[in-house]
Amino acid sequence: LPQHTCSWLKGKSTLFKYQDFWSYEEIIKEVVLAQQSLKAHPTDVFLCSYPKSGTTWLKALVFAIITREKFDESNSPLLTTMPHNCIPFLEVELEQTIASQGNSSFVATHLPYNSLPKSILASNCKMVYIYRNVKDVIVSYYHMAREAVKLPMEDAPFEEAFDEFYHGFSVYGPHWDHILGYWKASMERREIIFFLKYEDLKKEPSINVKKLAEFIGYPFTIEEEKAGVIESIIKLCSFENLSNLEVNKNGYANEMIENRLFFRKAKDEDWKNYFTDEMIEKIDNLIYEKLGAIGLVLK
Ligand code: A3P
Repeated sequence: LPQHTCSWLKGKSTLFKYQDFWSYEEIIKEVVLAQQSLKAHPTDVFLCSYPKSGTTWLKALVFAIITREKFDESNSPLLTTMPHNCIPFLEVELEQTIASQGNSSFVATHLPYNSLPKSILASNCKMVYIYRNVKDVIVSYYHMAREAVKLPMEDAPFEEAFDEFYHGFSVYGPHWDHILGYWKASMERREIIFFLKYEDLKKEPSINVKKLAEFIGYPFTIEEEKAGVIESIIKLCSFENLSNLEVNKNGYANEMIENRLFFRKAKDEDWKNYFTDEMIEKIDNLIYEKLGAIGLVLK
């Protein structure tokens, strides 16, 4: 497979190109296995995203929505379990994913649409695709990738990180191809692919959580709405709440990544603290060229 060593990470991270995306060797091995062995069930729902676009938040919300009859903000497993351990990642926890098949299950994935195991498409599984303003994704990605190999900011210049991301060298990148793949598919399969924008979820949480619950087959009843169930789910899954829980402040999501790295700032337009005018122009032009035709606003 073609490979690329990220110079801005001081050679500590090597990506391989499989099909049309870049990733780590261990993940690609799991992807190949998933493509060969996953037998999706028509009631499985996939939570799809490019990394750093709000995956953790989406997992928490979906978990809170589907378990709300048993749990609320006083006893939810989310208070003691990291959202990533509540809903597995297809290409990371393949065994767990396969074990849960047959029951309708919720599974997350960062895989591009064209690399999803064929049985997901053949079974017409529903997918929620969360996406986010590309500049905030780049800043969030910069910190995650750097912290994963324990490089302080002074040793990992943002300009170099930007340049690599811009040229498509990022985990599951290029980012714009990821969005485009799901977007094109959603044109033909509108009823089974739900696009959710991170910034919209932040701006209008109630409307979007309601839509999300409906889409995944767990609509709120009028009684629940009146009783404020939507608001308590939003509060339970808020950045303020989740980022302050012991479980999310400590512990590891995997060997390399600490839980706390999934809860950095969650601030819109943090990119303004990093981007030069030249970078803004470059990325805006690229996104316009790649995604302008489909009218997705990613500024
Ligand atoms: P920042 O790095 O900008 O803070 P992912 O979950 O896909 O890895 O995305 C991580 C981004 O989502 C991080 O962005 C993180 O802080 C933010 N995030 C995590 N939990 C959140 C929540 N409950 N609400 C809003 N944003 C959240």
